[in-house]
Amino acid sequence: NQIKLFSPATIANVSCGFDVLGLCLESVGDEMTITKTAQPGIRITEIVGTDLPLEAEKNVAGVAALALLAHLQPDCGFEIRIVKNIKAGSGIGSSAASAAGAVFGINQLLGAPLTNKELVHFAIQGEKLASGSAHADNVAPALLGGFTLVRSYEPLDIITIPSPNELYVTVIHPHIELKTKDARSVLKENIPLKKATIQCGNLGGLISGLYTGDYGLIGRSLHDELVEPIRSILIPQFDELKAAAKTAGALGGGISGSGPSVFALSKGKETAAKAADAMSAIMLQTSVPFDVHVSPI
Ligand code: HSE
Repeated sequence: NQIKLFSPATIANVSCGFDVLGLCLESVGDEMTITKTAQPGIRITEIVGTDLPLEAEKNVAGVAALALLAHLQPDCGFEIRIVKNIKAGSGIGSSAASAAGAVFGINQLLGAPLTNKELVHFAIQGEKLASGSAHADNVAPALLGGFTLVRSYEPLDIITIPSPNELYVTVIHPHIELKTKDARSVLKENIPLKKATIQCGNLGGLISGLYTGDYGLIGRSLHDELVEPIRSILIPQFDELKAAAKTAGALGGGISGSGPSVFALSKGKETAAKAADAMSAIMLQTSVPFDVHVSPI
């Protein structure tokens, strides 16, 4: 009647896949305990590590869970306790971890009537509450692991993309809060055809590189023509962080989700650790505190 689970951090967009591509960090995430109760409905009993609303209707995990209950109509309810290790506004899928963990845990306690892919539909209701947009590029990799592609939103069509074993991610989180809602409001509604062409080429290249394990192609494809030029202005030392990771041997990188975290992909754990050191050295030149993670994907 109780499940304890690890709900992973995620990196959305991965440079060239705005709102469609995401990856899951295997070793960074929240811990959640979900308990089945005789009393119907959802109660968030405690959130450790951050100050977030406990009312289910105002909480990302609560809203996603309520959407799932409305669909499944079980004759029981659930209590949710969350230990938040992922800070809100960090750009590594804090709200997604809460939403995905809640629907995953409840589905398991009910005997898994839905697949993890089907759960994406309910988890994005939490994202909608958090940022005003029901984007799936964090919740899909959180629920399915590895890399995922949102091939289509209407209808929702999620594809799991394989990736080579030695691919590691480095992510540095400057401790400034950047709300996804705000980072979305600065984006342009329309894009020139020329830029769309470049973006399509890179997204196709990245997917192909992931399938074939072509690290060079992965590196060449990590380029964002549409969003990074606008959002990077909001991130201190962004260009320097990206350049430092590349000089250390990383394949490439960019903004993690809507920022302010910055990620780099590397072949091998050692190179990913070197990228972490190089990016940390840049941050140490500023007065902005930060944390840094290296994780397999
Ligand atoms: N695709 C979303 C965005 C991810 O970039 O706004 C937010 O984490």
